[in-house]
Amino acid sequence: MTVTVERPASRVALITLNRPQALNALNLETMRELTTAAAELDRSAEVGAIVLTGSDRAFAAGADIKEMASRTFSEMHAEDWFAGWDALTRVRTPLIAAVAGHALGGGCELAMMCDLLLAAESARFGQPEITLGVIPGMGGSQRLTRAIGKAKAMDLILTGRTMRADEAERCGLVSRVVPNEQLRAEAIEVAAKIASMSLVAARTAKEAVNRSFESSLAEGVLFERRVFHALFATEDQKEGMAAFTEKRKPDFRHC
Ligand code: CAA
Repeated sequence: MTVTVERPASRVALITLNRPQALNALNLETMRELTTAAAELDRSAEVGAIVLTGSDRAFAAGADIKEMASRTFSEMHAEDWFAGWDALTRVRTPLIAAVAGHALGGGCELAMMCDLLLAAESARFGQPEITLGVIPGMGGSQRLTRAIGKAKAMDLILTGRTMRADEAERCGLVSRVVPNEQLRAEAIEVAAKIASMSLVAARTAKEAVNRSFESSLAEGVLFERRVFHALFATEDQKEGMAAFTEKRKPDFRHC
């Protein structure tokens, strides 16, 4: 197996990329195993947040260059290479990328498919595909541009340079940078916090934020208002507001 799945805390799942000999380069096998594991966890009402991580040395050093190198245009096109990764973006449970070491090419793009990114000080982000005579192919030209703006995205994608964790935080790619040894614990803590909320509310919040990338402001605001109204059909809304009034902690049932 090229990924492992653990349950490090209540309602939290941890998926770890595990191809150390290739710095977690993403091959077809990894894509299938990772998307299958994430989809399975997403179907479970017992999982409220999923952390995706790699090793201390590499989150992932990109798509597997050796697997792609000899392929022809016709083969890449016929197989719609990389399309399988879209399955990860259909996961409705919040996904947290915990990045240490190299997050390059497909590795950076995989992290950007997650809902929030935490970085260790050792994290290095980049889209070096240009140095291989190609361009990002797992969404980098789109998601990086939306995350950090055109100027920085062009800088990274056209030069192929890597960006340190502090720069990634400054330009809004990552939400927090933590000392290397604290990354895993911090990611699990953030995941546990999210997982303690109403799952239906958390999934709806994720959907609403993601909608902002797909719609005009007016449509996005309308979508938000409608799903806000819809949450009043949930038991968790009744419980959350009753708990506030009664000055106690809510006991969410995730429905
Ligand atoms: N694909 C396949 N194998 C890879 C790999 C990749 N993306 N990245 C690293 N590896 C392999 C190396 O070939 C090496 O294997 P061998 O021991 O069998 O030679 C092993 O991992 C260790 O790597 P290095 O010896 O190179 O380690 P290093 O510490 O000297 O360098 C590195 C680390 C700077 C990350 C370097 O490995 C590197 O530049 N990797 C490629 C990064 C890259 O170009 N990524 C983009 C890939 S294309 C892509 O992702 C397309 C897309 O949009 C999805």
